[in-house]
Amino acid sequence: MKKKLLSALLSAAMVATLLVGCGGAAPAATAEAPAATEEAPAAEAPADDAAPAAEATGAGKKVAVAMPTQSSERWINDGANMKSQLEELGYEVDLQYAEDDVQAQVAQIENMIAAGADCLVIAAIDSDALVNVEQQAKDAGIPVIAYDRLLMNTDAVSYYATFDNKGVGTKIGEYIVEHCEATPDAPKTIELFMGSPDDNNAHMLYAGLMEQIQPLLDDGSLICKSGQLEFDDNNTLRWDQQTAMKRCEDILTRYYADEDLNIIASAFDGLSYGCMSALEGAGYTDANWPMITGQDAELMATKHIISGKQTMSIAKDTRLLAAKCVTMVQAVLEGSEPEINDTTTYDNGKIVVPSYLCEPVPVDQSNYKEVLIDSGYYTEDQLAD
Ligand code: GAL
Repeated sequence: MKKKLLSALLSAAMVATLLVGCGGAAPAATAEAPAATEEAPAAEAPADDAAPAAEATGAGKKVAVAMPTQSSERWINDGANMKSQLEELGYEVDLQYAEDDVQAQVAQIENMIAAGADCLVIAAIDSDALVNVEQQAKDAGIPVIAYDRLLMNTDAVSYYATFDNKGVGTKIGEYIVEHCEATPDAPKTIELFMGSPDDNNAHMLYAGLMEQIQPLLDDGSLICKSGQLEFDDNNTLRWDQQTAMKRCEDILTRYYADEDLNIIASAFDGLSYGCMSALEGAGYTDANWPMITGQDAELMATKHIISGKQTMSIAKDTRLLAAKCVTMVQAVLEGSEPEINDTTTYDNGKIVVPSYLCEPVPVDQSNYKEVLIDSGYYTEDQLAD
C-alpha cells in the first residue's frame, strides 16, 4: 500500500512538475510587489488513469506552505509538488510565496496561523527571522515542518525534510578535484561563489566544498587570486544572481586582467548564470571558458550543461523531497511515523531536528540523460531548444 501511495504521489508530482516546467519562465520578483501572496502557476495535476488513487486521509485539514520566491524555477516546482501531493491526500492547501522579502514571509505566516492552518510547512527566506512567528504557531498548537532550509533557533519545529547539504558541497568539491587537472607545476585559478549567509544550507555546502579543495589550495595546485576564500568574503545574500554577477565582474577586473579565471565554484545555478554574464562581458569565449559548477540542475542550467556553458550541477529531485515532507505532515496531523534518516546533524541552536536527507546527485554531460530524463524529471523536448 505504502509503495502504491508513493507511486501515486510521484506520478501526480511528475505531471505537475512537467506542467509547470512547460509553463514558461517564473514571474520575476519585483520591487513593486514586496508582499506577494500569489500562488505558483497552476499545479493542478490532471487525473492520471494509470496511477492508483491515493487514500484521501487529509480531508478537513488545512496545510499552509510558505515558500521563499518564484524567481528561481526550483521553488515553483517545490510548491507545485507539495500542493498536488497534499491535495491528492485530501488536504486543503494554502501555498504562498514571499519573493525573498523577509517581512512579507513573516506576515504571510501570521496570516496562515490566523486563517486556521492545521500545519505549517516553511522554506524560510531568512532562517533566523521566523523565531517569533514560529512561537506563535507553537502557542496555537500548530506543528511546523522545515522544508529544505533548516529553521534556526526554535524548538517549534517538528521535522526537517532536506537534501544532504554538506554532501552537496562535498560532491561539488569532488567534481572539481577530479576534473580540474591542476597540479602544483600547472596550477589553475579558482573563485568561489557561495550561498546566502542567512541560510544554513549555504554554510554546510561551503564546509563540504572546502574539505575537498583545501589540499589543492594548500599545495598550490589551485590559486584563488582574489584571496576571497572565507565564507564571509564569498557569500551571496539571498542567493541573488545580480549580486553574483557584480562580484564576478569586480573580481575579473581586479584580479584577472592578465590571466584567465579557470574554475568558478558556484553553489547554485542562479549564481552561475550571473557569473556567465560577467564572463561574457569580460570577453571570455569557448577558448578560455572556465569550469563552472552549480546546484539544483534547473532546466536552464541543464541546457547550459548540454551546450557546454556550465560544467556540472547537483540534481535535487524536488518530487522526492515533497513526498518526504508530506509524510511528515501526515505524521504530525495523523499520528503516523515518518521515515527519518538523520537525528544528529541538524542542531538549530535550540534542538536537534529529526530529519530526512534526500540524496543529491552530481550531473554533467556524461549522465544528465540518465539522471534527469530517464527519471522523468525533464522531457527531451524541454531540453531541446
Ligand atoms: C538553498 C538550496 C539550494 C538552492 C538555494 C537557492 O537553500 O539548498 O538548492 O535552491 O537555496 O534557491
